[in-house]
Order: sequence, then C-alpha cells, then structure tokens
Amino acid sequence: MPCVRSSKGVLRANGGELLIMKVLGINGSPRIGGNTDILLDKVLEGAGSKGAEIEKVILNKLKFSPCQECEGIGDDGECVIHDDMHELYKKIKDADILVLASPVFFGSLSAQTKMMIDRFQCVWHLKYMLSKDTGYRKKKAVFISVEGSKRNDFFENAKSIAKNLFATINADYQGELFCSGVGEKAGILNHPSCLKKAFELGVKLALSK
Ligand SMILES: Cc1cc2nc3c(=O)[nH]c(=O)nc-3n(C[C@H](O)[C@H](O)[C@H](O)COP(=O)(O)O)c2cc1C
Repeated sequence: MPCVRSSKGVLRANGGELLIMKVLGINGSPRIGGNTDILLDKVLEGAGSKGAEIEKVILNKLKFSPCQECEGIGDDGECVIHDDMHELYKKIKDADILVLASPVFFGSLSAQTKMMIDRFQCVWHLKYMLSKDTGYRKKKAVFISVEGSKRNDFFENAKSIAKNLFATINADYQGELFCSGVGEKAGILNHPSCLKKAFELGVKLALSK
C-alpha cells in the first residue's frame, strides 16, 4: 500500500494514519557505556524495533548551568539562562515519549539529572503559579534506574523527583524499570532479565497510543 509521510506520521493510502512515536531518552549518568546508558539503549532499541523514531541525550555532554533562581521567565516558559538546555527544552516538547534514566547516587537521582530537572522551575512557575499554558503538549514518560545496593527506598525517592518533573511538563507517568545490585561499569550485562525488560518496555511504549 503506498504511503506518504505527514508531519507526524505515515499516511496510509486509505487515509488512516500510522503514528510514528518520537521517543527521547535522557541519560543522567556521567558514565558513558555504563549501566544506565546500556539500560536506556535497550529501551530505545525496543522502541526502534517497532518503528519509533529514537534519540538519546547524554546530560553529562551538555553545557548547562544549575538553576540560578533568578525568576526570569520567558512567555514560552523557557529559562532565561542561555545554554544547552534550550535545545533540550525543544527536544522534550517535541517528543511523544520521554525515557528518563538516572543511576541512584546517594539515595537519589544523579546531580546531572537533578540539575536538568531544576531548570524546569520556569515551566513549573508558569503552570502552577501563573496558570498559563506552558506549551508542553501531552506526552508519556517512564523512569528507569540502576543502583549498586538493593534498596527499594532509594528508587522510590528518585522516582518521586522524576514524577515531579513529569507532572510539570504534562507527561503521564507510564511506569518504571529498576535494576538493583549493579555496581561496576557495564555490570548490567550480567543481568539479562533487566535488559529483556528494558527492551520490552521500549516495544510497549512504541506501540502505545
Ligand atoms: C556518586 C555515587 C553515588 C552512589 N550512591 C549510591 C547509592 O546511594 N545507593 C546505591 O545503591 N548505589 C549508589 N551508587 C552506585 C551506582 O548507583 C551504581 O554503580 C550504578 O550502577 C551506576 O550506574 P552507571 O554505570 O550508569 O553510572 C553510587 C555511585 C556513585 C558514583
């Protein structure tokens, strides 16, 4: 059946539209090729296997400042600090599905991840204090994480902060994937059940409506 590409997906000859999901993975670990990176890649691989458009951003490679609490907000809810966060705001706005990935550091998210989240204070302010449209359309989000120990409370703590971000950017929480007892770099390769779950999560996300 002949198909043409529309702005959002593929238009079938019969007029029906097969939506192509844009899945954005955000890696908050400083360790490239580490456990978070590998787990995130598996989710993206799963999503890609079902035709989703996938992209990964590594926060540690971006040049951005922590929130300066300057209360400067653009009409679009974007922060007035001009750095690499602006490209990320655009990517997040554009995504249908967000996969936020962070290792557990000191019982919480990594500093890179938290620093990125704090830069959404401008959006939070626009939404909750000024009751204005933030420009963030509905999307879906999941949180994935790894840790060296086997403490569920660490994951829950990190998750609650991630969910705070998702609510701010109009993202419906779709669930999580946590892999514990993984400390050394790439040690997650010895946890095939985690990798399988990650792949399946990606498939499920790509097929979700
Ligand atoms: C700064 C730092 C803090 C950490 N804090 C914790 C922690 O509180 N609890 C835990 O279980 N593991 C902790 N870990 C271990 C990491 O969560 C673990 O090594 C994880 O696999 C790292 O993922 P990555 O390879 O993606 O960076 C910490 C590691 C670092 C470097």
